[in-house]
Amino acid sequence: MRFTDGALDTQSAWFARLDPMLPAAVRPPDGNVISAALPDGTRVAGVLVQTRLAPDAMATLWSALEVWELHPMLGEHGMPQLLDQWRRTMARRPTGPDSSCLVTWPSRDVGAARAFLDHGLVPLSTLAIRTGAPILPSPGTLQVRRATLRDIDTILPLAMAELEYSAMVGSTVLRPGAAQVKRAALTRHLDQNDPVWIGERDGIAVALAECWFNESVGGSWSETRVRHGLWGYINSFSVAPSFRGAGIGREMISVVHRELAAAGTIGSFLYFNPPNPLSTVFWARQGYRPLWTIWEVRPASALR
Ligand SMILES: CC(C)(COP(=O)(O)OP(=O)(O)OC[C@H]1O[C@@H](n2cnc3c(N)ncnc32)[C@H](O)[C@@H]1OP(=O)(O)O)[C@@H](O)C(=O)NCCC(=O)NCCS
Repeated sequence: MRFTDGALDTQSAWFARLDPMLPAAVRPPDGNVISAALPDGTRVAGVLVQTRLAPDAMATLWSALEVWELHPMLGEHGMPQLLDQWRRTMARRPTGPDSSCLVTWPSRDVGAARAFLDHGLVPLSTLAIRTGAPILPSPGTLQVRRATLRDIDTILPLAMAELEYSAMVGSTVLRPGAAQVKRAALTRHLDQNDPVWIGERDGIAVALAECWFNESVGGSWSETRVRHGLWGYINSFSVAPSFRGAGIGREMISVVHRELAAAGTIGSFLYFNPPNPLSTVFWARQGYRPLWTIWEVRPASALR
């Protein structure tokens, strides 16, 4: 089954009504098409894509190893029926313990949220954006500078502290090889001169912001998530545990926002976990708001 332009238009029109910051819908990737009939006889469909991660893939830091991702192709109606069909499909597939069913959908579609909850999916992550918010000045004594490859041993513990915290409240998985995977990823970003900042107080590294630039253009991954343009992406943001709640995050992010804006970005985005009691409040106060919610159930066999 090929998705017609009509199906894409229906989805784009629904997205535009839901949230002006959503990009237009794009064709789903190749995979297994599942479909369901609505009471009025019309059909809705989605594409189910199975991915198996290599043990050293960066995505192992936040993902199950075996992912069954649904890409719904519908507008306002039909999510409950499509999820029923997804459940029937999964019941016929053998899945392992380190597996998940996952679907990413506009946060403001609360009708769909009800259907996801009813099927056992939980909102593990939120992609949040910030555009046009004023940069809050936050003067203080934090020294913020760009990190270099020489700082890798200093910033790795800060990155791991963020992973440890996030593993308690969201999708992050602290696998035995997580530190090596994170070290390799940080090294690559520093090596290609991506913006990574280190915050120091009295010469001690107390904060890390690992960021990069993301150009949303036709055919890129990011055009499925954010409108076209140059964006700043905040991948990891961490304050050392004993320094949290004292304004360091605020000082650090005001520098990051200023630098990202100076580089010509139209906004910034990041992921946070809705059960994180620190970051949810922190990011909202810094001008971020939900755009997409990543709904997951682990293991995949728990989809109901
Ligand atoms: C989320 C995180 C980065 C925020 O950094 P932080 O330094 O703790 O945040 P701040 O101190 O700037 O702000 C947090 C609170 O401290 C308050 N605060 C600010 N300055 C303060 C000061 N001088 N004295 C006391 N409290 C202060 C802030 O007002 C804020 O509280 P409020 O929001 O209730 O007003 C940090 O808590 C952290 O690393 N958490 C664990 C990892 C994590 O969740 N990372 C983000 C993943 S998306």
